[in-house]
Amino acid sequence: MIVVDKIDDVRKIVKKQKSQGMSIGLVPTMGYLHEGHLSLVKKAKENSDFVCASIFVNPIQFGPNEDYDKYPRDVKRDVKLLEENGCDLVFIPSVEEMYPNERLTTVSVSKITNKLCGAYRPGHFVGVCTVVTKLFNIFTPDIAVFGQKDAQQVAVIKKMVDDLNIPVKIIKAPIVREKDGLALSSRNIYLDADERKAALVLSKSLKEAKIMLEKGEKNASLIINIVKEVLKQEPLCEIQYVSCVHPDTLEDLTTIDDRALIALACYIGKTRLIDNLLWGEDI
Ligand code: PAJ
Repeated sequence: MIVVDKIDDVRKIVKKQKSQGMSIGLVPTMGYLHEGHLSLVKKAKENSDFVCASIFVNPIQFGPNEDYDKYPRDVKRDVKLLEENGCDLVFIPSVEEMYPNERLTTVSVSKITNKLCGAYRPGHFVGVCTVVTKLFNIFTPDIAVFGQKDAQQVAVIKKMVDDLNIPVKIIKAPIVREKDGLALSSRNIYLDADERKAALVLSKSLKEAKIMLEKGEKNASLIINIVKEVLKQEPLCEIQYVSCVHPDTLEDLTTIDDRALIALACYIGKTRLIDNLLWGEDI
Protein backbone atom coordinates (compact mmCIF):
# COMPACT_ATOMS: atom_id res chain seq x y z
CA MET A 1 0.00 0.00 0.00
CA ILE A 2 1.23 3.47 -0.85
CA VAL A 3 1.09 6.05 1.96
CA VAL A 4 1.18 9.69 0.87
CA ASP A 5 0.66 13.04 2.56
CA LYS A 6 0.89 15.41 -0.43
CA ILE A 7 -1.89 16.28 -2.86
CA ASP A 8 0.52 16.33 -5.82
CA ASP A 9 1.61 12.76 -5.08
CA VAL A 10 -2.01 11.58 -5.06
CA ARG A 11 -2.61 13.29 -8.40
CA LYS A 12 0.49 11.71 -9.99
CA ILE A 13 -0.36 8.19 -8.78
CA VAL A 14 -4.04 8.45 -9.74
CA LYS A 15 -3.10 9.77 -13.18
CA LYS A 16 -0.80 6.80 -13.75
CA GLN A 17 -3.40 4.30 -12.59
CA LYS A 18 -6.05 5.87 -14.83
CA SER A 19 -3.68 5.80 -17.81
CA GLN A 20 -3.42 2.04 -17.28
CA GLY A 21 -7.21 1.76 -17.46
CA MET A 22 -7.79 1.38 -13.73
CA SER A 23 -10.92 2.77 -12.14
CA ILE A 24 -10.45 4.66 -8.87
CA GLY A 25 -12.43 4.08 -5.67
CA LEU A 26 -12.32 6.45 -2.70
CA VAL A 27 -13.21 5.94 0.96
CA PRO A 28 -12.95 9.23 2.91
CA THR A 29 -12.47 8.80 6.67
CA MET A 30 -11.31 10.66 9.75
CA GLY A 31 -9.35 7.61 10.91
CA TYR A 32 -9.43 5.61 14.14
CA LEU A 33 -10.72 2.90 11.89
CA HIS A 34 -13.10 0.10 12.80
CA GLU A 35 -14.96 -2.64 10.93
CA GLY A 36 -17.48 -0.07 9.66
CA HIS A 37 -14.76 1.82 7.79
CA LEU A 38 -13.21 -1.43 6.60
CA SER A 39 -16.55 -2.56 5.15
CA LEU A 40 -16.42 0.56 2.96
CA VAL A 41 -12.94 -0.44 1.74
CA LYS A 42 -14.33 -3.88 0.89
CA LYS A 43 -17.23 -2.31 -0.99
CA ALA A 44 -14.83 -0.01 -2.84
CA LYS A 45 -12.75 -3.06 -3.85
CA GLU A 46 -15.86 -4.70 -5.28
CA ASN A 47 -16.63 -1.62 -7.32
CA SER A 48 -13.26 -0.27 -8.48
CA ASP A 49 -9.74 -1.38 -9.43
CA PHE A 50 -7.55 0.95 -7.37
CA VAL A 51 -8.84 1.59 -3.86
CA CYS A 52 -7.84 4.77 -2.07
CA ALA A 53 -8.68 5.91 1.45
CA SER A 54 -8.10 9.23 3.14
CA ILE A 55 -7.51 9.88 6.81
CA PHE A 56 -8.07 13.48 7.77
CA VAL A 57 -9.69 14.81 10.92
CA ASN A 58 -11.28 17.76 9.19
CA PRO A 59 -11.21 20.75 11.58
CA ILE A 60 -13.82 22.76 9.69
CA GLN A 61 -16.61 20.24 10.25
CA PHE A 62 -16.32 20.47 14.04
CA GLY A 63 -18.18 23.14 15.99
CA PRO A 64 -16.34 25.26 18.60
CA ASN A 65 -17.69 23.12 21.47
CA GLU A 66 -17.18 19.81 19.71
CA ASP A 67 -14.47 17.19 20.05
CA TYR A 68 -11.90 18.16 17.36
CA ASP A 69 -8.97 18.25 19.79
CA LYS A 70 -9.80 15.02 21.56
CA TYR A 71 -11.04 13.15 18.48
CA PRO A 72 -9.30 9.74 18.71
CA ARG A 73 -6.31 9.23 16.43
CA ASP A 74 -4.09 6.18 15.76
CA VAL A 75 -2.61 6.54 12.30
CA LYS A 76 -0.12 3.68 12.67
CA ARG A 77 -2.88 1.20 13.46
CA ASP A 78 -5.10 2.65 10.70
CA VAL A 79 -2.37 2.19 8.08
CA LYS A 80 -1.91 -1.44 9.14
CA LEU A 81 -5.65 -2.14 9.01
CA LEU A 82 -6.00 -0.55 5.57
CA GLU A 83 -3.06 -2.53 4.25
CA GLU A 84 -4.49 -5.79 5.64
CA ASN A 85 -7.81 -5.02 4.00
CA GLY A 86 -6.40 -4.55 0.53
CA CYS A 87 -6.40 -0.76 0.27
CA ASP A 88 -3.97 0.41 -2.46
CA LEU A 89 -3.26 3.97 -1.36
CA VAL A 90 -3.90 6.03 1.75
CA PHE A 91 -3.71 9.81 1.81
CA ILE A 92 -2.95 11.30 5.24
CA PRO A 93 -2.57 15.05 4.75
CA SER A 94 -1.74 17.63 7.38
CA VAL A 95 -4.18 20.46 8.08
CA GLU A 96 -1.73 22.82 6.29
CA GLU A 97 -1.74 20.60 3.19
CA MET A 98 -5.55 20.68 2.99
CA TYR A 99 -6.03 24.29 4.12
CA PRO A 100 -2.76 26.13 3.32
CA ASN A 101 -4.16 29.62 3.21
CA GLU A 102 -7.21 31.67 4.02
CA ARG A 103 -10.23 29.68 2.96
CA LEU A 104 -12.63 31.89 1.01
CA THR A 105 -14.53 29.13 -0.77
CA THR A 106 -16.89 26.64 0.79
CA VAL A 107 -19.46 24.23 -0.57
CA SER A 108 -22.86 24.39 1.04
CA VAL A 109 -25.98 22.36 0.37
CA SER A 110 -29.11 24.12 1.62
CA LYS A 111 -32.44 22.84 3.01
CA ILE A 112 -31.60 19.19 3.73
CA THR A 113 -28.69 20.29 5.91
CA ASN A 114 -30.95 22.32 8.21
CA LYS A 115 -32.58 19.34 9.84
CA LEU A 116 -31.65 16.16 11.77
CA CYS A 117 -27.97 16.51 12.82
CA GLY A 118 -27.60 19.70 10.78
CA ALA A 119 -30.08 21.50 13.05
CA TYR A 120 -27.83 20.86 16.05
CA ARG A 121 -24.42 21.16 14.35
CA PRO A 122 -24.43 24.50 12.51
CA GLY A 123 -21.72 24.63 9.86
CA HIS A 124 -21.01 20.91 10.10
CA PHE A 125 -22.22 20.01 6.62
CA VAL A 126 -20.47 22.99 5.00
CA GLY A 127 -17.28 21.54 6.49
CA VAL A 128 -18.11 18.04 5.26
CA CYS A 129 -19.15 19.15 1.76
CA THR A 130 -16.09 21.39 1.38
CA VAL A 131 -13.60 18.68 2.37
CA VAL A 132 -15.36 15.97 0.36
CA THR A 133 -15.40 18.23 -2.73
CA LYS A 134 -11.68 18.85 -2.25
CA LEU A 135 -11.07 15.10 -1.95
CA PHE A 136 -13.16 14.48 -5.08
CA ASN A 137 -11.08 17.08 -6.94
CA ILE A 138 -7.81 15.61 -5.65
CA PHE A 139 -8.66 11.96 -6.44
CA THR A 140 -11.17 12.34 -9.31
CA PRO A 141 -12.54 8.94 -8.23
CA ASP A 142 -14.98 6.92 -10.33
CA ILE A 143 -16.78 5.77 -7.20
CA ALA A 144 -16.80 6.85 -3.57
CA VAL A 145 -18.24 4.85 -0.68
CA PHE A 146 -20.06 6.35 2.30
CA GLY A 147 -21.68 4.58 5.25
CA GLN A 148 -25.38 4.62 5.96
CA LYS A 149 -24.38 5.13 9.61
CA ASP A 150 -24.23 8.85 8.71
CA ALA A 151 -27.50 8.80 6.78
CA GLN A 152 -27.80 12.57 6.45
CA GLN A 153 -24.19 12.87 5.29
CA VAL A 154 -24.71 10.39 2.45
CA ALA A 155 -27.98 12.09 1.39
CA VAL A 156 -26.27 15.51 1.41
CA ILE A 157 -23.26 14.27 -0.57
CA LYS A 158 -25.48 12.56 -3.14
CA LYS A 159 -27.41 15.82 -3.60
CA MET A 160 -24.19 17.84 -3.86
CA VAL A 161 -22.75 15.48 -6.49
CA ASP A 162 -26.00 15.59 -8.43
CA ASP A 163 -26.44 19.38 -8.21
CA LEU A 164 -22.81 20.13 -9.12
CA ASN A 165 -22.43 17.39 -11.78
CA ILE A 166 -19.42 15.93 -10.00
CA PRO A 167 -18.48 12.86 -12.05
CA VAL A 168 -18.41 10.30 -9.25
CA LYS A 169 -20.81 7.50 -8.36
CA ILE A 170 -21.76 7.51 -4.67
CA ILE A 171 -22.19 4.03 -3.20
CA LYS A 172 -23.89 3.51 0.15
CA ALA A 173 -22.75 0.81 2.57
CA PRO A 174 -24.91 -0.60 5.38
CA ILE A 175 -24.31 0.09 9.08
CA VAL A 176 -21.87 -2.31 10.73
CA ARG A 177 -22.77 -3.10 14.34
CA GLU A 178 -21.27 -4.79 17.37
CA LYS A 179 -22.75 -8.23 18.11
CA ASP A 180 -25.06 -6.67 20.70
CA GLY A 181 -26.38 -4.08 18.23
CA LEU A 182 -24.38 -0.93 18.98
CA ALA A 183 -23.44 0.79 15.71
CA LEU A 184 -19.66 0.99 15.38
CA SER A 185 -18.32 4.51 15.80
CA SER A 186 -14.91 5.99 16.51
CA ARG A 187 -16.66 7.92 19.30
CA ASN A 188 -17.71 4.73 21.16
CA ILE A 189 -14.24 4.88 22.76
CA TYR A 190 -15.51 7.82 24.88
CA LEU A 191 -18.07 5.58 26.64
CA ASP A 192 -17.31 4.17 30.10
CA ALA A 193 -18.63 0.71 31.05
CA ASP A 194 -22.05 1.93 32.28
CA GLU A 195 -22.47 4.23 29.29
CA ARG A 196 -21.51 1.43 26.91
CA LYS A 197 -24.36 -0.66 28.34
CA ALA A 198 -26.73 2.30 28.20
CA ALA A 199 -25.81 3.03 24.57
CA LEU A 200 -27.50 -0.20 23.55
CA VAL A 201 -30.81 1.58 23.95
CA LEU A 202 -30.29 3.32 20.57
CA SER A 203 -30.31 0.13 18.51
CA LYS A 204 -32.94 -1.38 20.82
CA SER A 205 -35.31 1.51 20.12
CA LEU A 206 -34.85 1.11 16.36
CA LYS A 207 -35.50 -2.64 16.65
CA GLU A 208 -38.87 -1.80 18.19
CA ALA A 209 -39.60 0.54 15.31
CA LYS A 210 -38.69 -2.20 12.86
CA ILE A 211 -41.09 -4.63 14.54
CA MET A 212 -43.91 -2.09 14.17
CA LEU A 213 -43.03 -1.42 10.52
CA GLU A 214 -42.94 -5.15 9.82
CA LYS A 215 -46.43 -5.42 11.32
CA GLY A 216 -47.57 -2.82 8.76
CA GLU A 217 -47.59 0.37 10.84
CA LYS A 218 -47.57 3.37 8.51
CA ASN A 219 -48.07 6.23 10.96
CA ALA A 220 -44.75 8.07 11.35
CA SER A 221 -45.66 9.73 14.68
CA LEU A 222 -46.48 6.37 16.22
CA ILE A 223 -43.13 5.03 15.10
CA ILE A 224 -41.32 8.11 16.50
CA ASN A 225 -43.22 7.73 19.79
CA ILE A 226 -42.27 4.11 20.29
CA VAL A 227 -38.61 4.93 19.63
CA LYS A 228 -38.75 7.81 22.15
CA GLU A 229 -40.50 5.62 24.73
CA VAL A 230 -37.73 3.01 24.56
CA LEU A 231 -34.98 5.67 24.72
CA LYS A 232 -36.62 7.33 27.76
CA GLN A 233 -36.39 4.07 29.71
CA GLU A 234 -32.61 4.53 29.87
CA PRO A 235 -31.68 7.13 32.52
CA LEU A 236 -28.24 7.84 30.98
CA CYS A 237 -29.79 8.65 27.62
CA GLU A 238 -30.80 12.18 26.67
CA ILE A 239 -32.67 12.42 23.37
CA GLN A 240 -31.57 15.12 20.92
CA TYR A 241 -33.94 14.16 18.13
CA VAL A 242 -35.90 11.27 16.69
CA SER A 243 -37.22 11.81 13.15
CA CYS A 244 -38.95 9.85 10.45
CA VAL A 245 -38.01 11.24 7.03
CA HIS A 246 -37.71 10.36 3.37
CA PRO A 247 -34.20 8.85 2.91
CA ASP A 248 -33.27 11.12 -0.04
CA THR A 249 -35.11 14.41 0.49
CA LEU A 250 -35.07 14.13 4.31
CA GLU A 251 -38.60 15.62 4.28
CA ASP A 252 -40.59 14.68 7.39
CA LEU A 253 -43.06 11.88 6.70
CA THR A 254 -46.53 11.62 8.19
CA THR A 255 -47.33 8.35 6.45
CA ILE A 256 -44.76 5.74 5.52
CA ASP A 257 -45.61 4.57 2.01
CA ASP A 258 -42.53 2.64 0.99
CA ARG A 259 -39.13 4.00 1.99
CA ALA A 260 -38.36 5.74 5.27
CA LEU A 261 -35.40 6.73 7.40
CA ILE A 262 -35.89 6.68 11.14
CA ALA A 263 -32.94 8.67 12.44
CA LEU A 264 -31.95 9.63 15.95
CA ALA A 265 -29.27 11.37 17.96
CA CYS A 266 -28.82 11.00 21.72
CA TYR A 267 -26.36 11.92 24.37
CA ILE A 268 -25.14 9.04 26.48
CA GLY A 269 -23.44 10.97 29.24
CA LYS A 270 -21.29 13.52 27.41
CA THR A 271 -21.04 11.45 24.21
CA ARG A 272 -23.30 12.22 21.29
CA LEU A 273 -24.25 9.09 19.36
CA ILE A 274 -26.36 8.66 16.22
CA ASP A 275 -28.12 5.67 14.73
CA ASN A 276 -30.80 5.03 12.15
CA LEU A 277 -33.02 2.49 10.48
CA LEU A 278 -33.46 2.52 6.73
CA TRP A 279 -36.79 0.96 5.87
CA GLY A 280 -37.84 -0.30 2.45
CA GLU A 281 -34.45 -0.12 0.79
CA ASP A 282 -31.79 -2.77 0.32
CA ILE A 283 -28.22 -1.53 0.36
P1 PAJ B 1 -15.82 9.08 9.68
O1 PAJ B 1 -16.72 9.38 10.83
O2 PAJ B 1 -14.44 8.60 9.93
O3 PAJ B 1 -16.55 8.03 8.76
C1 PAJ B 1 -15.99 7.66 7.53
C2 PAJ B 1 -17.01 6.80 6.80
O4 PAJ B 1 -17.26 5.61 7.54
C3 PAJ B 1 -18.37 7.51 6.63
O5 PAJ B 1 -18.87 7.27 5.32
C4 PAJ B 1 -19.23 6.83 7.69
O6 PAJ B 1 -20.61 6.83 7.40
C5 PAJ B 1 -18.65 5.43 7.66
N1 PAJ B 1 -18.98 4.68 8.88
C6 PAJ B 1 -18.73 5.06 10.16
N2 PAJ B 1 -19.23 4.14 11.02
C7 PAJ B 1 -19.80 3.17 10.28
C8 PAJ B 1 -20.50 1.96 10.58
N3 PAJ B 1 -20.71 1.55 11.83
N4 PAJ B 1 -20.96 1.22 9.54
C9 PAJ B 1 -20.77 1.62 8.26
N5 PAJ B 1 -20.11 2.75 7.91
C10 PAJ B 1 -19.65 3.52 8.90
O7 PAJ B 1 -17.83 10.59 8.07
C11 PAJ B 1 -16.72 11.08 8.20
O8 PAJ B 1 -15.65 10.40 8.77
C12 PAJ B 1 -16.36 12.46 7.69
O9 PAJ B 1 -17.48 13.27 7.79
C13 PAJ B 1 -15.83 12.47 6.24
C14 PAJ B 1 -16.85 11.97 5.23
C15 PAJ B 1 -14.54 11.65 6.14
C16 PAJ B 1 -15.48 13.94 5.84
O10 PAJ B 1 -14.55 14.48 6.71
